[in-house]
Amino acid sequence: MASIEFKHVSKTYPGSKAPVIKDMNLEINDQEFVIFVGPSGCGKSTTLRLIAGLEDISSGDIFIDGVRSNEIPPKERDIAMVFQSYALYPNMTVYKNIAFPLKIRKFSQKEIDDRVVTAEALCRKKKLSPEETQKCLKKVSRETRFTKDEIDSKVHAVAKILDLEPLLDRKPKALSGGQRQRVALGRAMVRSPKVFLLDEPLSNLDAKLRTEMRSQIASLHKSLKTTFVYVTHDQTEAMTIADRIVVINNGNIEQFDTPRNLYDFPSNIFVAGFIGSPEMNFLNGQFHIENGKYYILLDEKKIYLPGDIDNKQKEIIQPFDGRDVVLGIRPEAISIIAENTATASEDNVFTIHVELSEFLGAEVYLYFEFAGTHCMARIPSIHRIYTGDDIRISLVPSNIYVFDSKTTNTILYSENSVKHSLEDRSEKLE
Ligand SMILES: Nc1ncnc2c1ncn2[C@@H]1O[C@H](COP(=O)(O)OP(=O)(O)O)[C@@H](O)[C@H]1O
Ligand SMILES: [Mg+2]
Repeated sequence: MASIEFKHVSKTYPGSKAPVIKDMNLEINDQEFVIFVGPSGCGKSTTLRLIAGLEDISSGDIFIDGVRSNEIPPKERDIAMVFQSYALYPNMTVYKNIAFPLKIRKFSQKEIDDRVVTAEALCRKKKLSPEETQKCLKKVSRETRFTKDEIDSKVHAVAKILDLEPLLDRKPKALSGGQRQRVALGRAMVRSPKVFLLDEPLSNLDAKLRTEMRSQIASLHKSLKTTFVYVTHDQTEAMTIADRIVVINNGNIEQFDTPRNLYDFPSNIFVAGFIGSPEMNFLNGQFHIENGKYYILLDEKKIYLPGDIDNKQKEIIQPFDGRDVVLGIRPEAISIIAENTATASEDNVFTIHVELSEFLGAEVYLYFEFAGTHCMARIPSIHRIYTGDDIRISLVPSNIYVFDSKTTNTILYSENSVKHSLEDRSEKLE
């Protein structure tokens, strides 16, 4: 159990000029499940290695459990790390693989002292005589490693949680990919670390197993009540298991928020494009205000924005009158207007030519060109729309996002977005 805090942390690898982590500020709560997501090479693994102490930070401070930990060696940080390539010892059984970290580990003097205190309490509870107590404490204070019995009970406890008990006598080569990954998790769990770091632990598994392991890791987090920091480049993985997600790009935190808030309130084009699949459509245009009506001009087409924008958003968007902006609309937010259906207004309704219709079962992906940009819509497959069809679509004003072309920051959120807090989620989980 531990919180983790980054204060102005930067990391430059020796021999390179540019930092790979740039002035990072971050607070991860105790027992939180935080996922780092971002494109390959953006600094995700580096961040984990900084937390583990496997890399020195170049400037700034890292606090673990409130203690400044910059100089604390990895061994003393009480952090376990699981990697994408989980190297198990091929000649050892599952039991021995899990037991290994306990066998090799020597207690620190503090741990020995703590064990003596625990033993003393136990002797008192058992009402042992002073002589017996002395003998017992002497023995405990001489022990520098876990006893065989202690190891045995810890290995079995972990194997039980991970459903590995029937496999304890097997060697890794007789296990499936998912089972091996569970052994790797077990090996990390057996030490009961304060923090779990997982670096793309599922990327070597096939799609079905990944989905299965995803829910297992989520329930593992709930039962262990430990801080989890997890890295992936797969936004679906991040969206499904994280309490909060850190979106990083090029060594910078773009946004740190709940999965729902990242989807509803992306703070810029990068986050809007990275979170949500298939990706949001982005169209370049100019923002205009005409007789109090707000619209975006896209290739001579007027796309109206909601008439009832709240005052706070108005203040932000009004100065953009006449300036370049980017209109964003998610593929699932584009509406299809069925043939021969009248619409109350023809505003924001357009006829498009379907260049490709991809049938996925429950849904259909439609690819088309709109205002000179390749776009896509994601619609329920009950609409029977095929490649080559000409159809009418509506860009419903309340579904539209607007971004500043220059800074890429969001200047108007879709009206359908609803703020979501961490508390909302935990209430639902209870
Ligand atoms: N040991 C190293 N020495 C020099 N550069 C490194 C080292 N490790 C990683 N890098 C560079 O740092 C950047 C971030 O790497 P990394 O944290 O592994 O990215 P990610 O895990 O997000 O894919 C990359 O450009 C990578 O090439
Ligand atoms: Mg990596």
